[in-house]
Amino acid sequence: MKIKNGILAVIAALAAGHVSAATLRLECGAPGPGQDVCMTSAKEWAKKTGNEVQFVATPNDSNEQLALLQQLLGSGSDKIDVLQIDVVWPGILANQLLDLKPYSKGAEKQHFASIVANDTVGGKLLAMPWYIDTGMMYYRKDLLDKYHLKAPTTWDEMTAAAKKMQDAERTAGNDKLWGYVWQGRAYEGLTCDALEWVSSFNGGTIVDPKGKVTISNPNAAKALDTAAKWVGTISPKAVLNFSEEEARGVFQSGNAVFMRNWPYAWSVMNQDGSPVKGKVGVMMLPKGGNGGRHAATLGGWQLAVSRYSKNPKLAADLVMYLTSAQVQKYRAIKASFNPTIPALYQDKDIIKASPFMAELYPTFASAVPRPSTVTASKYNQVSNQFWNATHDVLSGNAKSAEALAQLDGALKRLSPSGSWK
Ligand code: GLC
Repeated sequence: MKIKNGILAVIAALAAGHVSAATLRLECGAPGPGQDVCMTSAKEWAKKTGNEVQFVATPNDSNEQLALLQQLLGSGSDKIDVLQIDVVWPGILANQLLDLKPYSKGAEKQHFASIVANDTVGGKLLAMPWYIDTGMMYYRKDLLDKYHLKAPTTWDEMTAAAKKMQDAERTAGNDKLWGYVWQGRAYEGLTCDALEWVSSFNGGTIVDPKGKVTISNPNAAKALDTAAKWVGTISPKAVLNFSEEEARGVFQSGNAVFMRNWPYAWSVMNQDGSPVKGKVGVMMLPKGGNGGRHAATLGGWQLAVSRYSKNPKLAADLVMYLTSAQVQKYRAIKASFNPTIPALYQDKDIIKASPFMAELYPTFASAVPRPSTVTASKYNQVSNQFWNATHDVLSGNAKSAEALAQLDGALKRLSPSGSWK
């Protein structure tokens, strides 16, 4: 029966004008909730068009995914047709990706213009926007209520509230409880968290949009000092090796009051069986003092077609399907992936499933980009230097002002002429 259905699908696809059945290899994130929803939609496309899809697994951390993809694409391998790329990679992978303009029929016009601009390099549309992310603060509504605390607006208020609840709960026997969990491992995720701290203290964005290295400044140092004090006090020392999923693991099992994470965590934490289901609130990340601002790093993923794909037309068709409004709506409801199509933020079903998408819309629209446009193909090296300097400060191996002064020198040396433009 299965075989018969398959044959029928192929005949239908041929009749619909698709040239021939093919197997497309698709990389859409590390195994987990993200890959599951991706697989569902990709299989739908395969069934509809009479083709097949195979999934290529990748490591968890985005910088490790990049290393793997660079290795594959660098050797001109056709082992991958469609790939998921981070918002900071278009400049890095520009030469390896197909221009999607001839296939998109203008569909990109439905998406946020800033993301489309980010995905366009040298006039080529290198990827289609798939979902956006920004850092958000999750908190335990039930614990804040219990201790009659308001949602904090500055990092100092958050630190004090976290400490108060951690101490009181531990005294009451809840000895595994931590105040705050976040991403402290030396990897791309730490760059995102640390950019938020720095920017919230008005310390800039590492390299400014004009190409000037700005990271060595007192506000940035203050931001890193603030975070370093959390380690071992309101955050477990192990946070220095946490990525998104380790932080979520602690928070979801009920062992943290506050957590910095991306939107995807919302749906998993509210699934049946989750110990924190219905107890979680979401707010903007705190400001760096009263003169500071709420800053959330812009993240997100796009879908692209490898230049070495043997089936570029079909691969582009798959990308267009997966990034369509219909699939983005499904993903927003099922797995709280923020759409890249502004119109979907008014969709009632999406708002019902993930109310924060409407509530935090201004945060998504004004998120802080990492300096990937200006540093282009060298972004990963810039970020690597930044996360290492930050990690040194967090682990007590360096003083913030000195670490940032050294970083400033290193980033200038890495740039083409002491600045990036
Ligand atoms: C999320 C973001 C991505 C970022 C990564 C860092 O996946 O969407 O942009 O680079 O986290 O861990």
